[in-house]
Amino acid sequence: MGQATALTPALSRRSGRGGNTQHPSAPALPGGGRGPGDEGERQRRTQSAVPSRTGIGLRFQHHREVLETRPDVAWFEVHSENYLGGGPTPATLDRVRRDYPISLHGVALSLGSAEGLSEPHLARLRHAIDRFEPGLVSEHLSWNVVDHAYLADLLPLPMTEEALAVVVRNIDHAQTALGRRILVENPSSYLRYRYSPIPEWEFLAEVSRRTGCGILCDVNNLFVSASNHGWSARDYLAALPPTAIGEIHLAGHAVRDFGDGRVLRIDDHGSRVGAEVWELYAEALRRFGPVPTLIEWDTDIPPLATLIEEARRADEALADEIHGHATIPA
Ligand SMILES: [Fe+2]
Repeated sequence: MGQATALTPALSRRSGRGGNTQHPSAPALPGGGRGPGDEGERQRRTQSAVPSRTGIGLRFQHHREVLETRPDVAWFEVHSENYLGGGPTPATLDRVRRDYPISLHGVALSLGSAEGLSEPHLARLRHAIDRFEPGLVSEHLSWNVVDHAYLADLLPLPMTEEALAVVVRNIDHAQTALGRRILVENPSSYLRYRYSPIPEWEFLAEVSRRTGCGILCDVNNLFVSASNHGWSARDYLAALPPTAIGEIHLAGHAVRDFGDGRVLRIDDHGSRVGAEVWELYAEALRRFGPVPTLIEWDTDIPPLATLIEEARRADEALADEIHGHATIPA
């Protein structure tokens, strides 16, 4: 077990919308960095706050096009682990960051690990936060590290009081080490533990209440898990505290029909957002109000123009919500 970390009240009990909160004691970039160490370069950057509009997950295939064409996209999200080292890839993000707010979305912190968090990983992530000044920083309600081995999947947790205590301790630790509030995302899941007495939506709401972290509500994940487990997606949404919602994810998923009445939905992020997920998104906006929204696409990655089309569609729903009449996009 990792050591428990003392609570930092100002961080741990912070409440309210979003995650655009930088700890006042956040230090300057550690020595040895490039780009952001140049104060002039920092000053030329656009603001860090992520707006309540739709962003796109930035993937390697689109780096050059984004740099060359500077498309009309409100913000970009990247997988944190791809930008923790040196070399040309983080340097590319420095250039993107000059014109766009960004979000760092992690997959390797393993907030559910009973052995605690990796200090070297936290330090690398802190360095990336200082370097890129993201408006949002997020992770998942899952685990994928055990005995220092990294498992390349976001594995589900048993929803128990013991697991809740582990996750709360790890998020407190992360928020203190990173000097800021993080958002925690509901994962897609395909199995449940035999003993898992707390509904996932109650578990997530309680994690937010105890740590002050925000919630990244992945509407596609929510729909996939609800369908696979026979939950009510609308009840799940209704149980989440609206003021804690800092971001929404939208993505496509695959459907595997076994032909015997069983259907499995797989969160592959490889297609356009499905009609049921658009409907649930409109419901989420009615409950949460306008929230920064992201189009995620990770397999069979299409042209950037397709992602921009999907983002426009979400922006229409956001605009409707802002003007007081959320509707389901056509
Ligand atoms: Fe997501």
